[in-house]
Amino acid sequence: MGRYAEAQRKLKVTGGGRNMISLKDIQANPTFQTLIRRTNEYLSILGYTEHGLRHVTYVSTMTAYVLETLGYDQRTIELGSIAGYLHDIGNMHNRKYHGPTGANIVYVELRRLGMPLEEICEITTSIANHEEEIGVPVSPICAALVIADKSDAHRTRVGRKSCRDIHDRVNHAITDSSLVVNSDNCTITLKLAFDTTECQIMDYFTIYLTRMEMCQQAAALLGCTFRLVINGLELIGERAGAAELRPAAGEGVTRQ
Ligand SMILES: [Fe+2]
Ligand SMILES: [Fe+2]
Repeated sequence: MGRYAEAQRKLKVTGGGRNMISLKDIQANPTFQTLIRRTNEYLSILGYTEHGLRHVTYVSTMTAYVLETLGYDQRTIELGSIAGYLHDIGNMHNRKYHGPTGANIVYVELRRLGMPLEEICEITTSIANHEEEIGVPVSPICAALVIADKSDAHRTRVGRKSCRDIHDRVNHAITDSSLVVNSDNCTITLKLAFDTTECQIMDYFTIYLTRMEMCQQAAALLGCTFRLVINGLELIGERAGAAELRPAAGEGVTRQ
C-alpha cells in the first residue's frame, strides 16, 4: 500500500459521537428521495442511461464493499455508502459539472440534518471529484466511489428503449459484470462479458478509456492495481513480469 493511501487509511473519520447519520437515514429522507427521482427523470429526458435508485444503490453498495474489503473502519465505510448513494444528485440541474453542484446540494442538506462538518467534507469532496471531467481521486472514499461508479456498465442500464447512441450500444453489449477486490494481492478487477455481435470492444474504450484511467488512479490511491478483464482478456492490469512477483489471483483469468 502506498504512503498516501496508508496515511488516509489512518485518518479515521468520526463524528465525535454526535449525530451519527446512517445510510438508512439518508435512504428514508424524503428530500433525497425526491432529488434522486428528479435526477433520473432529467437524465432520461436527455437520453442518458439509468441513473435512478438502482444505479445509486449499486454505487453505494460497491463503494462500501471496496472500503470494507480493504480494511477501512466502519464509519468510513458508512460515509462511503452515503457518498455513493448521493453522488449523482447534481444531475438534476445539469449533467455538466454535476459533481461539484451535487456536492453543494448535499452539503446544505447534510448540514441541515446536523451531520458533523468533518464527515460532510469527506462526503462532498468525494462527490465533487467523482467524474473524470474535472475530478481527481483525493481520498479513500472518493477513490472507492469512482471505481464503484465507473464499474456500473451493464445492459440493465439501457432498459427496453432502443439503443440510440454509442453509450446505449456499449451498455447493452455488456451481458455480465462483476467488481472483485482482492486484498491479498492488492488488485481491484472489473470483469465484463461483452457481446461483440452488438458492438466492438473498441467502442467500449471510445467512451470508457478516460474512466478506466481514472479507476487506475483511484486504485493506486487505495494501494491497489486496477485490472479490466473483458471476455477473459486482461486489457488493463499489471505490467508484464510484475505478475510473477505476486501470488496468483486465483480467478482463472487469462493474462496477456
Ligand atoms: Fe456522475
Ligand atoms: Fe453515477
